Amino acid sequence: MNGAERTVRVARTGPDGPRYFQTFRVPCGPRTTVLDALLYIHRHLDRTLAFRYACRQAMCGTCGVRVNGVERLACYTLLGAVPGRVVTVEPLRHLPVIRDLAVDFGPFFRAWEAIRPAFVPADNSRAEPARIPPDDPDRQLIDRHRECISCGLCYSACDVVGTRPGFPGPAALNHALCLVLDRRDGASPDRLRAVDGPQGCWACHGLLTCSNVCPKGLDPSGAIEDLKRLIAFGRRHDVAV
Ligand code: SF4
Ligand code: SF4
Ligand code: FES
Repeated sequence: MNGAERTVRVARTGPDGPRYFQTFRVPCGPRTTVLDALLYIHRHLDRTLAFRYACRQAMCGTCGVRVNGVERLACYTLLGAVPGRVVTVEPLRHLPVIRDLAVDFGPFFRAWEAIRPAFVPADNSRAEPARIPPDDPDRQLIDRHRECISCGLCYSACDVVGTRPGFPGPAALNHALCLVLDRRDGASPDRLRAVDGPQGCWACHGLLTCSNVCPKGLDPSGAIEDLKRLIAFGRRHDVAV
């Protein structure tokens, strides 16, 4: 192996469950990502390493891991830019580990059920929902919270998810706000009731941990604050722009 290398320490799952770490030396160029490092390990050093990826361009949301303790998309994190002598790669938190870095997203998506994640047309006439043009103020409020790729990074970073059973998590609550702000949606009152209460948005301490790790630049913490305002005051214009 020529050129620069980095030491990558990867969490592995033992045959009967307990976790251990395995260390590899991998080549590191200016554009090498953490995902490239995992692929190198898989192709050249250990064919049994399990991890998940698809698009390799921060679109599909499947390659989430923790890199030196911080939630990151493996395909969107330059290996050479990770500080420290060793790059430690671990699976996301709060989700059952299937093997090595591959986790079961079941709890993440089941948590969305609490917020009634599907659009419910207020108009039952079966007509196509009216379009909300891009320059509409409501649309601009919603646009700030769209483009979630369901990567689960915020869910893993959120300590409340790990300590408060029933808390839907930042991504689900961010999605709830998108629907509540949509004037065509008929389930917003129910949805606001569903996220009210000590297991809902009031459990959030608002310290921005989720927003700081979102690879799409979304602000789920801010969305939760907006939900709190809507519950407390019931006025859309109280939502921060
Ligand atoms: S701001 Fe709220 S949702 Fe985000 S990580 Fe903190 S507690 Fe979790
Ligand atoms: S809000 Fe951001 S971090 Fe959370 S699941 Fe969506 S894209 Fe990922
Ligand atoms: S592989 Fe799709 S987001 Fe990383």
